Amino acid sequence: MKKIAIFASGNGSNFQALVEGIQRQKLAVQVVLLVCDQPQAHVLQRAQQLNIPIWTASIKQFTDKTAFETAILTELQQLDVGLVLLAGYMRIIGPTLLQAYPQRIINIHPALLPQFPGRHGIEDAFAAGVEQTGVTVHYVDAGIDSGPIIQQAVVPVQPQDTVASLSARIHQTEHWLYLAGLEKVLATRSLK
Ligand code: GAR
Repeated sequence: MKKIAIFASGNGSNFQALVEGIQRQKLAVQVVLLVCDQPQAHVLQRAQQLNIPIWTASIKQFTDKTAFETAILTELQQLDVGLVLLAGYMRIIGPTLLQAYPQRIINIHPALLPQFPGRHGIEDAFAAGVEQTGVTVHYVDAGIDSGPIIQQAVVPVQPQDTVASLSARIHQTEHWLYLAGLEKVLATRSLK
C-alpha cells in the first residue's frame, strides 16, 4: 500500500475530501500523516476526527527552514511515505523536501495556472474580471505554483458572483479534482 502524507495550514476541507474520497473509492493508498505548520489550524480537528496521525509544529520553533523541513523529512521517512499532497499548505517547499521527493510532491491551486499563482488565486481572478477561472492539480517544483500540470477543471465566473460564491464553487471543484488528479498519478506512475 502506497503511503501518503498530506500537508495543510488552515481549514482543511481538501484534506478531509482527500481522506474520505480515498476511503470511499478504495484507492490503493493510505494517508498515514497530516503535516501542519499552524498548530491552531482547524485541519487538526478534522484529522483527529478522521483518525489520521498528526505532526504539527511552527517553523518558529526551529533555527531555520532547513531544520524545519529536516524534522518533517525524518518523520516522512520513518513512516515510509512515498507521496506528499499539499492541500492549502501556505509555505513554499524548500530544497530539503524537494530533493528527497522529486516529482513526488503535488499541490492544488484555486486558479487555472499559469494564471493567478500565489496565495490569492481566487481573489486575483475575480478582481481581473475573467469569465472563467478554475482549479489546477500540479507537481511542485522550486517555483511558486509553477510545476508540471496534472489536471485542470474550469469554473465559469457568473455575472452575479461574489468572491464568496465563486470561492464556494471553486472549493467544490477542488474536492473532486484532487482525487481525480491523484488517481491519474497512481495510474501512470510507479510510486513506492
Ligand atoms: C484551497 O483553495 C487551496 O487550493 C488553496 O488554499 C485553499 C485551502 O482550503 N491553496 C493555495 O492557494 C496554494 N497556493 P482548505 O484548507 O479548505 O483545503
